Amino acid sequence: MSLGKIIDNKHNALSARIDKQKVPEHVAIIMDGNGRWATNKRLPRKYGHIRGVDVLKEILKASKKLGCKVLTVYAFSTENWTRPTEEVDFLINLFSEVLRNEIDEIHEESTKIKFIGDLNPFPETLKKIISSSESLTKNNNKFLLNVCVNYGGRQEIVKVARELALKSSSGEIKPTEINEELFNSELLTRGSKDPELLIRTSGEKRISNFLLWQLAYSEIYISNVMWPDFNELEFLKAILDYQSRNRRFGGIESLPNESLEDSQYSS
Ligand code: IPE
Ligand code: IPE
Ligand code: MG
Repeated sequence: MSLGKIIDNKHNALSARIDKQKVPEHVAIIMDGNGRWATNKRLPRKYGHIRGVDVLKEILKASKKLGCKVLTVYAFSTENWTRPTEEVDFLINLFSEVLRNEIDEIHEESTKIKFIGDLNPFPETLKKIISSSESLTKNNNKFLLNVCVNYGGRQEIVKVARELALKSSSGEIKPTEINEELFNSELLTRGSKDPELLIRTSGEKRISNFLLWQLAYSEIYISNVMWPDFNELEFLKAILDYQSRNRRFGGIESLPNESLEDSQYSS
């Protein structure tokens, strides 16, 4: 049997096990491991980032096919500026180039693209293409792709706190009106439900300042695969794993055979 056929069979077997009624609506991904993937192959780190773009395209397609509605990906953190200028500049140019090349297809597929994070420090060329891509796709309603760039969860929370403080000092709201709902409505992800599933590739078991508020009850799936090697099959594994989880949100599982009047504890 050819390798392609084996992969197809595996893919079909995994797909068949997925419960279409329990597909997460919103998936968030920390696309990690680009640099190590390249270094392991004795290539400059930038080749990992280049390959990573193709993987994002594949996962975007796979999540649409599966019936997800929102994909939020971490592309550049507020801490990534500490990397060598050469890598930062490469990433910034890559974002512009990819957006320029892909925006027509994104629009044709009725996908809305949003950039989440502080765009101010980016060069005008990138800011312009981001703004034209967002306005071109703003009425698309089949799928939402959030790309987090110069994003930090703590910075987002501080920004909301500052905005609410300003509204409160100007008398627009009362401090006692500040609650989770109002806070949520000021977040950069407002309008989307919280991600049901967070995937992080490359085996790292940390959040790295991603969506600190929104991930409060997300299921976390760590894949040991480096992002450039991640693919639809690995994505389906993450979805299947998610579907096996027991989401309790602080409550308890209902156990039909358990009785509160268990003789062991009743007096
Ligand atoms: C993720 O891969 C992409 C970005 C942070 C831009 P990395 O570049 O962090 O790759 P590793 O983790 O160093 O291998
Ligand atoms: C998180 O990955 C940021 C992105 C994937 C864009 P990092 O590679 O920057 O995070 P750490 O340094 O491993 O925590
Ligand atoms: Mg990394």
